[in-house]
Amino acid sequence: MILNLLRSQTHDLHDRMEAYDLSKLMLSPEVTPAGYAAFLASHYRLLAALEPRLDAFFAAQGGEPPYRSAGKHQHIAADLAALGAPLPEPLAADDLPAFETTAQAWGAAYVIEGAAMGGMVLHRALSQRPQLAQLPAFSYLGGGGQPPVVRWQSFCEQIAAHVVDEADQQAALAAARATYEAMGRCLATQPILG
Ligand code: HEM
Repeated sequence: MILNLLRSQTHDLHDRMEAYDLSKLMLSPEVTPAGYAAFLASHYRLLAALEPRLDAFFAAQGGEPPYRSAGKHQHIAADLAALGAPLPEPLAADDLPAFETTAQAWGAAYVIEGAAMGGMVLHRALSQRPQLAQLPAFSYLGGGGQPPVVRWQSFCEQIAAHVVDEADQQAALAAARATYEAMGRCLATQPILG
């Protein structure tokens, strides 16, 4: 089934995400507000470009969209404002994975929904650091008011219902891998300001 395929066939890329210096900093006792802001900014670059495209894509299918991004990039924007950090430019359209089919859109959505769910671990780690304790909120990592695990469970049900046949599953996988690659470029190039 699609989730097993995505999980097993993108594991290498998730490992790569965790290995970037910026990611390792998030789990380090040395994390600073500027480092946390940089990590958020790298995610903003991908999400601010991808979420509106995903929402427009699913809305254009007609009827009740089976997926809505819920605008996570806006939660990141609120966190960056609270940190006094500038908003970066979203990724340019040609830096984003192309998707023309519904299966590809589901594959891209998998990466950003999984990242938000995995963000619970970062939330727990960061909120224990005294140097970040003064921050007003963890809007993005806190799930923006919706428990990430609840959202993730419902996402898993939806993707499993909509990406079923073999060709669709392979198309979703290719799009998920391309989305991870785009995120990797954001993490690799993000400067730490301040
Ligand atoms: C500091 C960096 C990161 C850490 C420590 C981390 C940690 C985690 C953890 C612990 C989970 C599993 C959560 C659970 O099952 O309860 C997870 C899942 C996931 N993460 Fe990350 N993550 C990081 C970065 C990223 C990035 C940058 C992306 C992509 C933009 C990403 C995408 C995903 C996806 C798609 C899943 C779902 C995997 C699945 O169960 O199918 N993660 N992450």
